[in-house]
Amino acid sequence: MLPTPDLSHLKKKDYEHIYEPAEDTFLFLDAFEDEVPFLKELKPTISLEIGSGSGCVTAFVGKIIGESNCLKYCTDINPRAARATFGTARQNQLSVDVVETHLVDALLPRLENQIDLLYFNPPYVLTPSEEVGSHSVEAAWAGGIDGREVIDEFLPFVKRLLSAKGAFYMVVVNENKPDDIREIMAQDGFSSSVVKTRLAGREKLFILKFTRV
Ligand SMILES: C[S@@+](CC[C@H](N)C(=O)[O-])C[C@H]1O[C@@H](n2cnc3c(N)ncnc32)[C@H](O)[C@@H]1O
Repeated sequence: MLPTPDLSHLKKKDYEHIYEPAEDTFLFLDAFEDEVPFLKELKPTISLEIGSGSGCVTAFVGKIIGESNCLKYCTDINPRAARATFGTARQNQLSVDVVETHLVDALLPRLENQIDLLYFNPPYVLTPSEEVGSHSVEAAWAGGIDGREVIDEFLPFVKRLLSAKGAFYMVVVNENKPDDIREIMAQDGFSSSVVKTRLAGREKLFILKFTRV
């Protein structure tokens, strides 16, 4: 079992402003642990996490893919989360470039079709639309109608970002209608699979994986 990244530099006060790793985060880590053989084979040269929050997932994935020959990027809309990710990378002896931006605004078109490994634990909770678009901790969960507003805005970027061999992983819950998301991505030329599921309280979590057909 791979160790959870060292987050000891983040204190209770920090989690008033950024997302504290929770069941969804840990399911994502478990999925990446299962995917180690695939990731070793993939040998990503550029990885990108959208919405990195504390930086826990990026630090975990960073340890799997190793330091050499892979540029690791993260984005977050919350400036405190961007700073936390940077601190977590340093705490875990990893080098990561963190960009404070909405989704991938600051990275396109430069990284078009360059990303070998793309991953996103999005704000997936069903909320009123007005709650979507904050730059503070609410951005961690507020997903709008069906919890899909940020997800649906991001999906069209996947085909622009991924390299020919690239893979995209995303956390969703049942209410986000995972089959509908898979259908949308199929129309963009992606095959999909569910690599992990877990019941966490009232949430049924899924980790979806997409690769080009
Ligand atoms: C559910 S949290 C996940 C945090 C972390 N990756 C984890 O798994 O613990 C979602 C993250 O996405 C960020 N986020 C929300 N909307 C965003 C957007 N439009 N662009 C970039 N990041 C966004 C939030 O600030 C938050 O850090």
